[in-house]
Amino acid sequence: MKINGQDFTLRSWEPDDAASIQKHADNPNIYSFLMDRFPHPYTMEAAIGWVTLMLDQDPFVNFVIEVDGMAVGVIGLELRDDIYRKAPLLGYWLGEDYWGRGIMPQAVKLMVNYAFTNLDIVRIQAGILSNNPKSMRVLEKAGFTKEGILKNGIVKNGVVLDEHIYAVLKS
Ligand SMILES: CC(C)(COP(=O)(O)OP(=O)(O)OC[C@H]1O[C@@H](n2cnc3c(N)ncnc32)[C@H](O)[C@@H]1OP(=O)(O)O)[C@@H](O)C(=O)NCCC(=O)NCCS
Repeated sequence: MKINGQDFTLRSWEPDDAASIQKHADNPNIYSFLMDRFPHPYTMEAAIGWVTLMLDQDPFVNFVIEVDGMAVGVIGLELRDDIYRKAPLLGYWLGEDYWGRGIMPQAVKLMVNYAFTNLDIVRIQAGILSNNPKSMRVLEKAGFTKEGILKNGIVKNGVVLDEHIYAVLKS
């Protein structure tokens, strides 16, 4: 699986991606805006474990973001079951060296297009920490709408924050 963006590629995982992913993921400026289940420190063992899981994914919903031939980020959906089965959650991160180049808004658009074309879903949702306006901007640039704010919905790094809920619907 391979989808070309302007200066990057979304592609499927390879066993060799672990070292590069470990290098770029091991960063408090990334961990601080993700769920606590995202490892910190991000060890090589964690990277190998993640890549191993991703090699077996079915359906395919999680891409490597490749820039200059290296795996430097991730974008993926978390599929949900029961009454939420047509409304997966979107997550993403990019190595700090590559921030500010407009990569992620484009990656989100490509992911949304891929997901609505290939999966039986009607909505893609993302929850953003209130101290992450950059990620809100990413979603707005990618066509998402802010639907609401869950007050005090999150605790991250010991601080209580609001969760901003964004979504895009299948048209
Ligand atoms: C958030 C993240 C994905 C952004 O990716 P990126 O490819 O650098 O995104 P962009 O290049 O479009 O830059 C971000 C946009 O936010 C804007 N921005 C930056 N700081 C901002 C701020 N404090 N307030 C509002 N907008 C801000 C930038 O100006 C840019 O918008 P513009 O192109 O209209 O000028 C990346 O920083 C990242 O991985 N962060 C850590 C993990 C994370 O937050 N993941 C998302 C969890 S929900």
